Amino acid sequence: MDKLIINGGKELFGSVDIGGAKNAAVAILPAAIMASENVCVIDNIPEIEDIQCEERIMESLGCKITRVKDSVTIDSTTLVNLNANTEDVRNMRASYYLIGALLGRFKKARVDLPGGCPIGVRPIDQHIKGFEALGANVKIEHGTVIVETDRLIGTNIYFDVVSVGATINVMLAATLAEGTTVLENAAKEPHVVDVANFLNTMGANIKGAGTDVIRITGVEKLTGCNYSVIPDQIEAGTYMIAAAACGGCVTVNNVIPKHLESISAKLVEMGAEVIEQDDSVTVKSNKTVKGVNIKTLPYPGFPTDVQQPMSTILCTAKGRSIINESIWESRFKHIDELKKMGACVKVEGRVAIIDGVSKLTGAIVKATDLRAGAAMVIAGLIAEGTTEVTSIEHIDRGYPHIENKFKALGADIRRESM
Ligand code: EPZ
Repeated sequence: MDKLIINGGKELFGSVDIGGAKNAAVAILPAAIMASENVCVIDNIPEIEDIQCEERIMESLGCKITRVKDSVTIDSTTLVNLNANTEDVRNMRASYYLIGALLGRFKKARVDLPGGCPIGVRPIDQHIKGFEALGANVKIEHGTVIVETDRLIGTNIYFDVVSVGATINVMLAATLAEGTTVLENAAKEPHVVDVANFLNTMGANIKGAGTDVIRITGVEKLTGCNYSVIPDQIEAGTYMIAAAACGGCVTVNNVIPKHLESISAKLVEMGAEVIEQDDSVTVKSNKTVKGVNIKTLPYPGFPTDVQQPMSTILCTAKGRSIINESIWESRFKHIDELKKMGACVKVEGRVAIIDGVSKLTGAIVKATDLRAGAAMVIAGLIAEGTTEVTSIEHIDRGYPHIENKFKALGADIRRESM
């Protein structure tokens, strides 16, 4: 077990390169299972634990996977095992994409229920509703989702909630269904579009991804292809917030600025300067920011995955901020850790009321989940004195080389074994 030791108070200067989007990559890898001919060569795959976990799962099913730096080659023609039942499957969230992918290609699968960050109840009823509408029999027995059918038939599916996971999962299965499927009230996140683009490159016929109506005309088979994953909107947002919090001038490279608009707009409202270039954004700040109100929403609204890093910077902003977390009911666990550092925050259900204090002070704090971990790192960077962040295996699940990237920007941060 490792921990991060941070001596706070350093301004950040320079540039940081953003990796491929975790939440796109963790769907694109299982989607590659659907190629019954040729290999998929996928570039810009981030070097994070969630991806390694997924690679192990896919190998346990019989896929052949090789990696050279951020490029992963997947041969799914050798896949023989339709039972995903390892501990890795139960530990990560995105393993549920194996259900849609295996159902699409083989018309059956047995996949253990997924794990993931403890941020709320996280039901999969909308995934199941979609699979059933396509004609699959779905049951859950002893913690395993069992799906099977002779045929998948395209149909109209209206999602009761906007769900990234259900949109992608049902899209996977519908890609190899007979006829046309229309997904309504679909999620519009950039990673939904990226998965659709990947499937189309493999031979699928998907239109409308990025809007709330996605039309999928089933095809008979998919074949391997070359693809490159989009940049990680959430990793980029985390470094932008860190720059605004610490003060200095940081250019965040390899991003799609359009995907960052809601974050950029809030940082500007807080008093930071955000300059957009073609594929980078520069954040300049003199550390003094003012409080703002935020409501997390599905894309293009403010992303819930950036809420925790954002609430950290608001702890030392001038005045009061109110955060309304509308996606996950338990995404304020990091607030107790911030309070150990002197933050003044009151949580009432899904609302956090933050009264800015003049400074945070270093303490031993825990990464209670992935983005909470990033929030703790930012807290350590702005705090007076030394902060130790423990349970950083959560951070390693989603942020590649976080300490090296911050060190290169001038932060005093190091990893130590506990
Ligand atoms: C994805 O989770 C992301 N994970 C999450 O990122 C992200 O917070 C979330 O989307 C929202 O953007 C991955 O992509 C692996 P949802 P997902 O289905 O797909 C409710 C991170 O930090 N819902 O969009 O599981 C659900 O309870 C992670 O990188 C149902 O009610 O989220 C929630 O309130 C954490 N029934 C809302 O919908 C369902 O069947 C949105 O969930 C499915 C979801």
